[in-house]
Amino acid sequence: MVNMSEQIDDGLPISEVGIWGEYKYRMIRNYCDLFTNAMRGKWDHLVYIDLFSGSGLVKLRDTNKLAYGSPMISLGLKVQFDSYIFCDASKTNLDTLRKRVEKAYPHIDVNYVVSDVNKAVDKIHEILPRPSKSYTVLCLCLSDPFRMSNLNFNTIKKLSNRFMDHLVLIPTYMDANRNIKVYLKPNNKRIFNFTGIKDWREQWAEVEAKGVGFDIFLTDCYGASLERDTVKCCV
Ligand SMILES: C[S@@+](CC[C@H](N)C(=O)[O-])C[C@H]1O[C@@H](n2cnc3c(N)ncnc32)[C@H](O)[C@@H]1O
Repeated sequence: MVNMSEQIDDGLPISEVGIWGEYKYRMIRNYCDLFTNAMRGKWDHLVYIDLFSGSGLVKLRDTNKLAYGSPMISLGLKVQFDSYIFCDASKTNLDTLRKRVEKAYPHIDVNYVVSDVNKAVDKIHEILPRPSKSYTVLCLCLSDPFRMSNLNFNTIKKLSNRFMDHLVLIPTYMDANRNIKVYLKPNNKRIFNFTGIKDWREQWAEVEAKGVGFDIFLTDCYGASLERDTVKCCV
C-alpha cells in the first residue's frame, strides 16, 4: 500500500474501493506468495487465473492511498507464476490492465479474456497449457466478484477438471447478509447458483436454529461444494 506521493500512479484510470480493500489485498498477496513458494519446483508450470481482474490499480476511498489490485499483486511476487490469465466483463477495465501490465511486465506470458466469466470457461480451457505425464500444470484461480450473481458455482466446477487451487471472496456482508430475505423466497435461485447446493434452505433452517450466522453458513456451504465437486490432488 503506498501513498499518492510515492508515485505508482501511472496516469491510467484508477477504480475506487472501500478501505477494507487493504486487508483483502494483504490476504491475496500472502496466499499467492505461499502458493508460488510452496509449489515452485513441484510442478512444471504454475498458472495464475484472475476471473474478476479489474484494472490493476485502486484508490482506497477517503484516503490518499493507492493499492495494486489482484493482477498486479500476482505479477509482482518474488517467486512468479509461469503464465497469467486475466478475465473481466468490462473491456475498459481489461484494456487499462493490459496497458498497465505491458508497461511494468513486458516479458511476462499474459492472456486477457474480456467476458462474463460464466461464459468464458471454454476460452480459459483453450488458453491453459496442456499437461502430460512429463509436464505437470497447477493453477491458482482467484474469484473476487462484487456480488454472488457474478459467479455461478458451475463455472468453478467446470474449470476444476484441471488441477486448480481456488481462492474465492464470498460476498457475505455486501450481498448475502443484506439480501437474505429475498434469497429465501422459494423461487429465488441466487444461493443455489452461487453454491451449487439444491437443499440449502433446509440446511439453513437447521443451522439457523443453532444460532449460526448466514455468512458462516454460506462459507461452509461453499467449502463443502468445493470439496465435493473439484478435482483433489496431493503433492
Ligand atoms: C471486486 S472487482 C475485482 C477487483 C480486483 N480483483 C482487484 O483486486 O482490484 C470486480 C470486477 O469484476 C468485474 N465483473 C463483474 N461481473 C463480472 C462477470 N460476470 N464476469 C467477469 N467479470 C466481472 C467488474 O468489471 C470488476 O472489474
